[in-house]
Amino acid sequence: MKYSKYSAVVIGSGIAGLYAALKIEQQINLEDGILIITKSKFGESNSLYAQGGIVGVMKENKSDSTASHISDTIKAGAGLSDFNAVKYISEHSDNVIKDIMKFGVEFDRDENNNLCFTREAAHSVRRILHCGGDATGRMIEIALCQKVQENANIDVYEQTSAVELIVNSKDECKGVIVFNDDTQEYETIYSPAIILATGGIGQLYKYTTNPSGATGDGIALAYRAGAVMQDMEFVQFHPTALAIDGEENRFLISEAVRGEGAKLCDSKGNEFMQKYDERKELAPRDIVTRANYREMIEHNVDNVYLNATCIESSKLFKRFPTISKKCKEHGIDISQDFIPVAPAAHYFMGGIKTNLNGETSLKGLYAIGETASTGLHGGNRLASNSLLECVVCAYSVTEYLKSLELKTPKQIDEDIKSLIDKYSDEDMIPDELDIPELKKKLQDIMWDNVGIFRNEKTLTNAIEQIKELQAEFSREYKCQSKEEYEFKNMLTVSLLIAYCALRRKESRGAHYRTDYPETQEKAIHSFITREEGVPDFVK
Ligand code: FAD
Ligand code: SIN
Repeated sequence: MKYSKYSAVVIGSGIAGLYAALKIEQQINLEDGILIITKSKFGESNSLYAQGGIVGVMKENKSDSTASHISDTIKAGAGLSDFNAVKYISEHSDNVIKDIMKFGVEFDRDENNNLCFTREAAHSVRRILHCGGDATGRMIEIALCQKVQENANIDVYEQTSAVELIVNSKDECKGVIVFNDDTQEYETIYSPAIILATGGIGQLYKYTTNPSGATGDGIALAYRAGAVMQDMEFVQFHPTALAIDGEENRFLISEAVRGEGAKLCDSKGNEFMQKYDERKELAPRDIVTRANYREMIEHNVDNVYLNATCIESSKLFKRFPTISKKCKEHGIDISQDFIPVAPAAHYFMGGIKTNLNGETSLKGLYAIGETASTGLHGGNRLASNSLLECVVCAYSVTEYLKSLELKTPKQIDEDIKSLIDKYSDEDMIPDELDIPELKKKLQDIMWDNVGIFRNEKTLTNAIEQIKELQAEFSREYKCQSKEEYEFKNMLTVSLLIAYCALRRKESRGAHYRTDYPETQEKAIHSFITREEGVPDFVK
């Protein structure tokens, strides 16, 4: 097998990965250079589709303060947010946002060149910065991708999946094995700093706002390598994905549309949010999602509607050009028609447990962005806090790495050799596995049993069925394609989510148990490691 060495390897080309690579290159003198590995086209990621914006607690916004942002984040987090994480990330918002502007990110400004701030659900003031109206993720990605491409010190491997972390007998991460989907070749890359920025898990569910790459790879890799996972039962479902028949990967109708005044209603225009929460459309996301889902179940319909016709049409088209264009393609004029919407899996609050330096429980392994669980979001993420966490944690991991001597490992121990051999073996004998079909089965199981409402029966049922799929799939190490590697990871992460959801006998934030609707007084994080594993008795 080919091998190479780098002083730092970033896995993922979303906003967390790109900004981390740029900061590390800018701040640290690296003997063996820096590499970004990304499994699809460079820049393809959840980040690319982010719409509403990024929280900017900016000094020039006199109506805002870190105290107010901290309070809103903690309230939305349903008691599970870690105060220190919230405070650190909020307090670094101003300087990190100003720093990303230096990399070419241009936020929308008014006619006097002042930054425009919008509002989203559960924020007490307007504090969301946006680009291109509703194309925030795309514009930030384009700017950061361009800076990486211009930077001769950052190498990029495209169409290359990380498939195994190399961890020695002392629980130290020494590198990563990667698989190139174009050439079908494997390579071992040694590095003292492996940074997972592999994003979310939306593809585990039948309906999702996430693109096809959101298969939880980094989480599965880190779990198999022995790292600690946190709060795996907390999956955020967005209340308003565009509900068009036959489309399971759903286009998002940003919460910012409700922030500007749009209302949820039934097909006749009857509003219903007042029944569920006094904050109505601007209640935290978990509450609005359950309200929409309850309305759908009660009236036996596939969607509810968003009425944006109350927003002045010139403002509506200027502020939401991407959304109005997409709706138009489906014959919906958002200034005249109701928009059919339904909930969809959107974001993962759980993930690889890290501290604010991005350190995981394994030395040499770091995680940032959606794949990590810093404790910021608790049981329910406040809108637009994810992009903020991506950039602040990319900044903080760089600050931490500055204090280390990043020497690439010289001696390779026996455990590592035997692991690498598993990928160097003779070619596998191809067998017939219909991955799209298996994937669909898994997505149905997760949506039906581990979704917006769960209980002991549905969760036990899901675990049983996922284990059956795992037996059918029967790959332990080497797989035959990128899609097989993704499916292997999806099975691992699905099982962890279902098992952790079964263990948490309460409802909190986005985790809603119909058999335990009460929230316990004390909020406790949940953890799981490979040693502990998913026990066999869960059958
Ligand atoms: P991603 O952007 O998902 O990037 C992950 C990268 O890792 C990708 O390049 C992927 O190809 C790569 N990768 C994955 N696995 C592997 C592997 N095995 N090997 C190699 N590469 C791999 N948040 C906000 O704060 N504000 C918003 O307005 C907002 N809007 C959103 C709208 C939509 C439609 C969606 C889906 C999400 C939105 N979010 C928003 C959430 C936010 O976009 C994400 O949480 C955030 O972009 C995650 O960034 P990331 O860098 O951690 O991961
Ligand atoms: C949205 O625009 O509604 C998504 C914002 C987010 O996920 O933070």
